[in-house]
Formats: sequence, C-alpha cells, structure tokens
Amino acid sequence: MNKLNIGVIGAGSISELHFDSYVKQANANLYAVCDLNRQRAEEKAAKYNVENIYTDYHELLANPDIDAVSICTWNNTHAEISIAALRAGKHVLVEKPLCKTVEEALRIQDAVRETGKTLQVGFVRRYDANAQLVKSFIDNDNLGEIYYAKASCLRRLGNPGGWFADTERSGGGPLIDIGVHVIDLCWYMMGRPKPVSVSGNTYNKLGNRANVRNLSFYKAADYDVAHNTVEDMANALIRFENGASLLVDVSFTLHAKKDEIAVKLYGDKGGVEIEPELVFVTEMNDTILNMSPQTDAKSINVPQAFQNEINHFIESCQTGRTPISPVEDGVNMMKMLCGIYESAAKGQEIKL
Ligand SMILES: NC(=O)c1ccc[n+]([C@@H]2O[C@H](COP(=O)([O-])OP(=O)(O)OC[C@H]3O[C@@H](n4cnc5c(N)ncnc54)[C@H](O)[C@@H]3O)[C@@H](O)[C@H]2O)c1
Repeated sequence: MNKLNIGVIGAGSISELHFDSYVKQANANLYAVCDLNRQRAEEKAAKYNVENIYTDYHELLANPDIDAVSICTWNNTHAEISIAALRAGKHVLVEKPLCKTVEEALRIQDAVRETGKTLQVGFVRRYDANAQLVKSFIDNDNLGEIYYAKASCLRRLGNPGGWFADTERSGGGPLIDIGVHVIDLCWYMMGRPKPVSVSGNTYNKLGNRANVRNLSFYKAADYDVAHNTVEDMANALIRFENGASLLVDVSFTLHAKKDEIAVKLYGDKGGVEIEPELVFVTEMNDTILNMSPQTDAKSINVPQAFQNEINHFIESCQTGRTPISPVEDGVNMMKMLCGIYESAAKGQEIKL
C-alpha cells in the first residue's frame, strides 16, 4: 500500500508524541507542519525533517499531496479544522476533546458521513496495551455485566494556564481537559452504553494558585497569572440507558494530599482497576482474589499508547475500516461533558 503523506496542524506540546510516532510508522511520511507560530512550526520541521511549513492551515489543506492530518491545536479550532480537512479530502486524527460543543460535534459527524473519510478521535487511553488487555477480558465476559464505574483525575496543583485556563479556547477546565480521558476509558470499557442523564457540580474556589511556592507544575507557553476562567474542580454522576452508572471527579487544583488517578470498573462477575495499577478482582471457591496480570507496565505507557493510536489511524485510513474511536464516540462524549457543565450551571440533573 502507498505511504500516506501526513500534515500535522498545531506544533505545540502534544504534537511531539504525534511526530515521534509517525517517524516510527513505516506507512507514514511526515510531509507538512502548520502552526500560527512560525518559529514553533520551523523548530518541529527541523527536528523531524519535514519539508513543508505553513502558518495557515487552509494552505496546508490545499496541498493535494497531503493524505491525512493530525489536529493538535486548541480545542476551539478542532471543529473548523476537522470539517475543512475532511472537505479537502483528508483523513483526520483529531486530539481530544473532539471539540467544544455538541452542535460542533454533530457538524463534524455530518462532514465525516458526507465525505466518507476516516476520522479518529484521539482517545489515546483506549490504545494502551493494558486497556486493550482489559477490553479483551470484558469482551470474553470475564467480568460479567459492568454496572458501575469510577473515574478520578485529581491534580492538587496543576492548572497549566494559557489557553487551558481560557474557556473561550478550551471549552472548560479539568473536566474537558483531563476528565475526558478517564470518562472515556470507563465508557469504552462499559460497552459505550447510551448516556441518558447527568448530574454535575463545578467549583471555582481556589483559582490558578499561581502564588504557590516550592512546588512546581507544568505551565503552558502563554501562561498568564491574571487570566483564569475555568473551573478548579468538577464531579458528576452519569446514568446510562442500561441502568449502569459512572461517578467521576477531576481537578486542576484541590486541597488534596497528593495527585490521584483512578479508573475502576465493577461487574457482576468481577472488577478491574486499570489505574493507578492494573489489577482484577473476583471471587473463586468462596474466596475473594486480587489478581495482578503480569504485564510490561502496571499503568499507561504514554509513548506506546500514542504509537498504537497512530498505527491504528494509518491502518484505518488504508483499509477504510472504522477506527475504534470514531466520530460518534466523540459526539457522545461531548453530550456527557456539555451536559455536566449545563447541570452544574443550572444546579439540576440534565436529561440528554
Ligand atoms: N491526548 C493527550 O493526552 C493530550 C495531552 C495534551 C494535550 N492534548 C490536546 O492536544 C491539543 C493541543 O494541546 P497542547 O498541549 O499541544 O497545546 P499547545 O498550546 O502546546 O499547542 C497548541 C498549538 O496549536 C497552535 N494553534 C492553535 N490554533 C491554531 C490554528 N488555527 N492553526 C495552526 N496552529 C494553531 C498554537 O499556536 C500552539 O502551538 C488540545 O486539544 C489538547 O486537549 C491531548
């Protein structure tokens, strides 16, 4: 099969993992890079030996030699760039979250259906080896019916500022930025049941805590102490049509003793913790067993998960098979996330 010529749009932090993975993909050829910030695009082009540099994504999309794009820009641009790319005949790998609103998500879905091109949403945790292992256990009915899941991603100090702290560009704070990963992983493992209602709370109590000394945290390139319009913390209960439920809490900052990540699923034959450390729980001979699969990593291997995501994208483009994280899943995720924000704003449960 022909190699695919790849354009990467957005040359910031996460693009690095896309570039690294494309370099190692035999069926991909890094062909173009685009960033509003020319210097950033030039640096990536030099590092990864990319020939074509753009600052306007429309120009990149007008290049007929480009087959597929990775979209690694701010969340508020995902919809317009995805739709333009699909209409220009390109396959699309778009970073999470799919976009900012349900209305945008539905427009992207329409463009996928209209053009017949591949669109894969960057729900990278699905592509981790441990996640795929757990999925195979669930598909083999080893855990029975999954009726409850719990997802946490708590940073005690970790509002990155910059565009992440600007609702206009991000769509929200920890819920849409990091909550999306753990909610998605639970939902995928639960068999993607239809969400029917959400009840959520968001809190803006602590601000960005730029005052804190002696403990460092990641800051975006355009960090601005004075600008922060996103929530510090969110929690929610999501109910599904099949009766299952998912409880989630996430924060950019919280008076917590330490950072915490947890992805836990409970079925009627057994349970599993995917994070912080892979372990299955079941009952045998009237005895409860905690069973640790012997795998290379106990937790997500991020570079490997990105490599698997990119490999799957290239394969999906070449075969025309629907990726395991299709646009429809991005749409459902936007319904859950936006529903939680709406519920928090109205102080009541929202029917989806
Ligand atoms: N999958 C993951 O684990 C993961 C991790 C981090 C970020 N992300 C996602 O990746 C995306 C980018 O995040 P980041 O951390 O790399 O941010 P970043 O700020 O480091 O990089 C974003 C880049 O996009 C560029 N950009 C913005 N709008 C553009 C446009 N219209 N045309 C061209 N370039 C444009 C900016 O100039 C910037 O260089 C976000 O959607 C974020 O949610 C995903």
